[in-house]
Amino acid sequence: MRTLTGITPSGTLHIGNYFGAMRPAIDAQTRGDCFYFIADYHSMTTVTDSAERRKNTLGIALDWLACGLDPKTSVFWRQSDVPEVCELMWMLGSLAPMGLMERAHSYKDKTAKGLSPNFGLFAYPVLMAADILLYDTHRVPVGRDQKQHVEMTRDMAIKFNEAYGETFVVPESEIREEVAVIPGLDGQKMSKSYGNTIEIFGDEKALRKKIMGIVMDSRTPAEPKPDADKNLAIQLLKFFAPAEVAADFENRLRTGGLGYGDLKKALFEHYWNFFASARTRRAELAADMGYVETVLRDGADRARAVASVVSKRARKACGLE
Ligand code: ADP
Ligand code: TRP
Repeated sequence: MRTLTGITPSGTLHIGNYFGAMRPAIDAQTRGDCFYFIADYHSMTTVTDSAERRKNTLGIALDWLACGLDPKTSVFWRQSDVPEVCELMWMLGSLAPMGLMERAHSYKDKTAKGLSPNFGLFAYPVLMAADILLYDTHRVPVGRDQKQHVEMTRDMAIKFNEAYGETFVVPESEIREEVAVIPGLDGQKMSKSYGNTIEIFGDEKALRKKIMGIVMDSRTPAEPKPDADKNLAIQLLKFFAPAEVAADFENRLRTGGLGYGDLKKALFEHYWNFFASARTRRAELAADMGYVETVLRDGADRARAVASVVSKRARKACGLE
């Protein structure tokens, strides 16, 4: 059973990414055979600055390693180090009906938001299908927004198998219903695109300012607040503090006597301590980028060992060899 997922290096990772995607992926390592990659080809549809891409790619590698990705257990690599994926994209794209491609929500959403469309953005789901099928993947843990892409991958795998004989494993998406949507500083879903994020790693002063700046209502500290469970700082505190500590804050807010300033201060402290050991580890790794490069190169070798077998199988099946 192989689990595979990719992370696009298009910005700085936030706590929504951590609880929604990274922690489940890191936990899955105890179940073995995990393939995780940094989708730098995918970032090309939106990022056009080469220095930024390099910086984001290495930054995300540091984030994952610091948060517990174990490069001995998991295969961890940079997508573009295995360029066979682009050849497979062509094979799959040649079987992808235009109707299927035109139904992709993420393309429609992005163009609706005013992002000027390019061919890469349109072809994005075919590259994603190639990412998944090139490694004989069974399970793809993703957020709900990516579910349709995995369904498109299944369609392409089935079409290829029908046209050229059994070649690809048909994968399943794994959407964790239990991972709540992490709210952002404004109470909406936390997302890079909404500018409402709390980064996993960053400057202490700036992050403290962000958290202390969360807007609350104008009720006085003494007033009881029967809706304490809906308070954003309480909701966030529950991710970082032990259950009994969070429950105590919630109670004090409900009965009255706890000021919002003190609550936000506590939220900051718990958040900051939660990532303390990962922060130390990240600083150590950042001082040894040679090691990080070695991890990614070694991961690429291990990924290529699988990819070359599957790629050969596909080339033979469709008559390229
Ligand atoms: P963003 O919305 O910030 O651009 P991405 O789309 O790059 O985030 O998401 C990367 C991963 O993190 C996906 O698996 C996604 O489901 C997860 N994720 C992002 N934001 C949240 C959130 N607020 N709550 C839970 N999971 C999230
Ligand atoms: N599209 C995914 C995202 O934006 C990233 C990704 C690229 C991916 N290739 C993948 C995820 C293959 C799972 C499998 O979050």
